[in-house]
Amino acid sequence: MFSYGPRRRQISSRSARSWSRPGTTPTTPFGHERVAEITGQWHAPELLAKQLQTPGVSFLVAAHQSKLVGHAFANSPQPPIVMLLRLYVLPRWQHRGVGSRLLDAAIRAYPGSTALRLSVEADNIKGVSFYRRHGFQLRGEQAEEGLKVLRMEKMLA
Ligand SMILES: CC(C)(COP(=O)(O)OP(=O)(O)OC[C@H]1O[C@@H](n2cnc3c(N)ncnc32)[C@H](O)[C@@H]1OP(=O)(O)O)[C@@H](O)C(=O)NCCC(=O)NCCS
Repeated sequence: MFSYGPRRRQISSRSARSWSRPGTTPTTPFGHERVAEITGQWHAPELLAKQLQTPGVSFLVAAHQSKLVGHAFANSPQPPIVMLLRLYVLPRWQHRGVGSRLLDAAIRAYPGSTALRLSVEADNIKGVSFYRRHGFQLRGEQAEEGLKVLRMEKMLA
């Protein structure tokens, strides 16, 4: 069974590297420091400890030889709707089916659910096309921290 505690830093740094890594083209207009700050907040031990004890939360990891290469985080505060809150694969592990398998695992974690919803930055071409290919449809858009964010949904039933 996966033990989150010792891997917290690994997951946090991998989320940041998936999103925006120095020397690569970032998937966000935020700078690398802001990305590190945001992902650090997401993976703050106190917050995660609380989230992991919350019914309906799923914390999934993809690992290769005990190294984490991807991560998905989902919640279902209002069943039968599921919210996919994070999906990240390390850049050099992308385009090998890891993201698709994490997405499938997140869906399987909520049998009987009717829809999976998420928000993705409109300029995240790779992310938006990935979700479209997996059957997500555009449901609306909004501004968050000055960015255009798309709301997408995949029907499950
Ligand atoms: C979006 C993201 C999660 C997709 O993860 P991934 O592991 O690359 O996803 P997959 O490999 O399953 O699929 C991606 C592409 O690889 C292709 N692919 C899958 N398996 C493959 C294989 N064995 N060989 C070659 N290509 C493959 C798929 O056809 C897919 O093509 P498409 O993007 O044109 O639709 C990943 O790019 C990522 O972490 N991005 C940064 C963070 C992010 O933007 N997250 C989403 C918004 S929060």
